[in-house]
Amino acid sequence: MPECAIAVDVLRATSTMATVLAAGGEAVQVFSDLDKLIQVSESWPLEKRLRAGERGGAKVPGFDLGNSPLDCTPETVKGKRLFISTTNGTRALQRIQNAQTVIAAAFINRGAVVKFVLEKQPETVWIVGSGWEGSFSLEDTACAGAIAHGILQKTNLSVDEIAGNDEVINAIALYCQWQDNLLGLFHHASHGKRLLRLECHEDLKYCSQSDTLDVLPIQKEPGVLKKY
Ligand code: MLT
Repeated sequence: MPECAIAVDVLRATSTMATVLAAGGEAVQVFSDLDKLIQVSESWPLEKRLRAGERGGAKVPGFDLGNSPLDCTPETVKGKRLFISTTNGTRALQRIQNAQTVIAAAFINRGAVVKFVLEKQPETVWIVGSGWEGSFSLEDTACAGAIAHGILQKTNLSVDEIAGNDEVINAIALYCQWQDNLLGLFHHASHGKRLLRLECHEDLKYCSQSDTLDVLPIQKEPGVLKKY
């Protein structure tokens, strides 16, 4: 495990998590299993919990929310814990939960993530794109590149001094190619197309914004992220 693991699921889990905490949510608790989510959240007072379930981009029947950040308004989430399970993002977070530091990143809070990494100076950093059922994700890779690019911009380090593998160089190049048209990139992405088929156009627009939220979701106990 690295000193610092950064989970990325731009469309839409980590965008949703940043939005919930920025809107006053008490915490986000992640689950890969829906039944476990139900069981654990049962012990939480009704007025202090929200259950968000997404599979295949769609809301799971019987859950309060799907995985749209646009549903996470202050009126809905303030003071509540969001118990969330998504197709890939929450699984990625569970996979890295034993790292010393675990944070969640998207384009909307990229600046807060870069600031944290520069402040803490971890020896090793993994940026973990959630992808889709094990496959490559354009949007998550571009976001990883945005984080690496942000670190380069704020330091006088060379790319060879920060890149631990070829993937980082590739991610930076992808980000630099699309940084002025992230929504356009999402429209080429397989998961972006999936969400467009589900009429989630506004979600893509929201998730394509850069540095709009100064919030850093950080793991406080296994699977539980709060505002740093
Ligand atoms: C995922 O976990 O794969 C995504 O967050 C799914 C989605 O909400 O579109």
